[in-house]
Amino acid sequence: MRRWGPLLAAALAISGVAQIPPAAALTPDDGRSLAQQYCSACHRVARSQPAPAPVTTESGEEYAAPSFRRIAARDDLTAAQLRDKVLRPHYPMREQLFIPEELDAILAYIVSLRATTGAAADW
Ligand code: HEC
Repeated sequence: MRRWGPLLAAALAISGVAQIPPAAALTPDDGRSLAQQYCSACHRVARSQPAPAPVTTESGEEYAAPSFRRIAARDDLTAAQLRDKVLRPHYPMREQLFIPEELDAILAYIVSLRATTGAAADW
């Protein structure tokens, strides 16, 4: 029994870590801040942001990423399809690294642009 003591303690410590409740659910507002952090180098993520410079591809072409408002206006895209587009991006967008909750919040923010600004993409 004594032999297992430290192991058991370690296992309890590890499961204790796993039991820490997840951070409070992130809101679309958090998603906006996260998008400003991760996506705004290429995408205009909010009306207040000036349009960023176009992305230059390896062959030297310039490619303007659609604004989040324009992405939101594509209401043929479900949240799941949007997620897929972010997780398996089409060149010249690159793979993005973040934790799943952050992506949920960013997608919620994009979808919120749909709800609050009507159908027409005005930025
Ligand atoms: C390095 C520049 C870059 C970054 C950073 C970037 N994107 Fe993109 N993204 C692009 C470009 C360029 C396209 C357009 C690709 C195309 O037209 O095929 C795109 C396309 C998309 C699309 C698909 C739009 C459509 O109509 O098909 C979504 C959704 C998207 N980006 C979301 C995001 C999100 C969310 C982030 C941040 C987590 C992000 N992007 C970060 C450059 C970027």
